[in-house]
Amino acid sequence: MNVSELESIARQMVAPGKGILAADESTGTIKKRFQSIKLESTEEHRRMYREMLFTAAGAADYISGVILYDETIRQKTRDGVPFPEYLAERHIVPGIKVDKGAKPLAGFPGETITEGLDGLRERLAEYHELGARFAKWRAVIDIGAGIPTRYAIEANADALARYAALSQEANIVPIVEPEVLMDGAHTLERCEEVTSDVLATVFAALHSHRIHLEGMILKPNMVISGKKCANRAGPRQVAEATVRCLKRYVPAAVPGIAFLSGGQSPEEATEHLSLMNQLGPLPWQLSFSYGRALQETALAAWGGHDDAFAAGQQAFLKRARLNGLARSGEYTPAHEQQAA
Ligand code: 13P
Repeated sequence: MNVSELESIARQMVAPGKGILAADESTGTIKKRFQSIKLESTEEHRRMYREMLFTAAGAADYISGVILYDETIRQKTRDGVPFPEYLAERHIVPGIKVDKGAKPLAGFPGETITEGLDGLRERLAEYHELGARFAKWRAVIDIGAGIPTRYAIEANADALARYAALSQEANIVPIVEPEVLMDGAHTLERCEEVTSDVLATVFAALHSHRIHLEGMILKPNMVISGKKCANRAGPRQVAEATVRCLKRYVPAAVPGIAFLSGGQSPEEATEHLSLMNQLGPLPWQLSFSYGRALQETALAAWGGHDDAFAAGQQAFLKRARLNGLARSGEYTPAHEQQAA
């Protein structure tokens, strides 16, 4: 493990004014996204869509890293430049999703365990060779009647820590992503309780597995009401609860926290991040690693049409720029009215 290299990559990933684009949708997930624009999910369509995002002129001003999927890290621009090489040339750090998805946890109805540890050392070595300098592993915790159970939280935390150790061994910065879903009808208070428990358990596991905290990034959910909650908390409450929770459970040695958007609207995700950064000073960089919140408007503007390639890029750049503003707390909803 090259500690100074890990630390320098981690700092680059959470550089001020920028954040990470999560473009690591599995083949199944991207198929669902393409269905929303009635586009068939062929390998070439997936390549073209990713090319649209990665080659948007000026994206590097707001994007510090991109999370790729196994298929995407092997693909090239239409000019024949491998995606990781194209990104690295623009000082955007290429990363890779290495988990194999959340699968039902046997004996624990409604809960999942993320798989993908077998053969991970070898896969990490190959991904490093292909240009990846960071990785991502997502654990999923659902809130419902009687769940999450302590065992599911512990099993997922342990898998995250084993993945993080193997990544650092391979000189790859691990993004540690324990996602508490916002799908249910639960309150913000319940989300804070579960998120607290999850973060405490994850950092205990990371300690047991001797993770170098300065060489990792945390990717958590925000503390937020469930989508079906009858009385959803407002943006200021979300920002305050999230920062309070993170301050309690995330060591200051961690260089950065990059949120997932988790089903929030693009505007909500940007506003929450901006409000949180107004609550500083904070011990870590507070950044974004959004998938849907960065891509939703771009996907719709493109619609799979060649002649809307530039329109898709403009829509993506607008979200990237506004989230870049939110990194220093400067974004307000009034910015939405301005042109891209
Ligand atoms: P969302 O921002 O769409 O939640 O995706 C981020 C991600 O990478 C989930 O693993």
